[in-house]
Amino acid sequence: MKKMLMIPGVVMVLMLANPVMNAAQAQTKKKAQAAAGAKASPADIAAGKELLSTSDCLACHKVDVKLVGPAYIDVAKKYPANEANYNKLAKKIIAGGAGAWGDIPMSPHPALSMADAKKMVKYILSVK
Ligand code: HEC
Repeated sequence: MKKMLMIPGVVMVLMLANPVMNAAQAQTKKKAQAAAGAKASPADIAAGKELLSTSDCLACHKVDVKLVGPAYIDVAKKYPANEANYNKLAKKIIAGGAGAWGDIPMSPHPALSMADAKKMVKYILSVK
């Protein structure tokens, strides 16, 4: 008889725990979506590639070979594709400077907008 009473009890506990578990799952899903949202859209990557080929970048950079500047695949290996790195590297492209890869500085690109520079970075960090 005691056993018979325990079964509904267990079912009740499971039913009560269910919304809590669902909330935790929703939280995890939201976090995953936010992380995915930081990923570059194919449109931005394509625009970045185009912008890059019409600027002076390829005079010093190649995708897979180090020239004056690091190969873009090496840049992509060093920095994970996320919003913080998009911003950091876009600023560096606009300001120029040395120190991350050696003593040779990158020329500044003051005419470049932050939005365009970020698209370029999204493309660069997508080559792997
Ligand atoms: C005059 C040569 C030159 C040109 C032109 C040039 N770069 Fe660079 N770039 C470099 C050098 C040298 C470095 C390494 C700088 C360092 O060590 O901090 C570099 C580094 C970078 C990095 C990595 C920065 C870091 O902090 O790790 C990115 C991204 C980059 N360049 C993108 C671009 C883009 C996009 C353009 C075109 C708008 C461009 N570069 C034009 C020479 C150049």
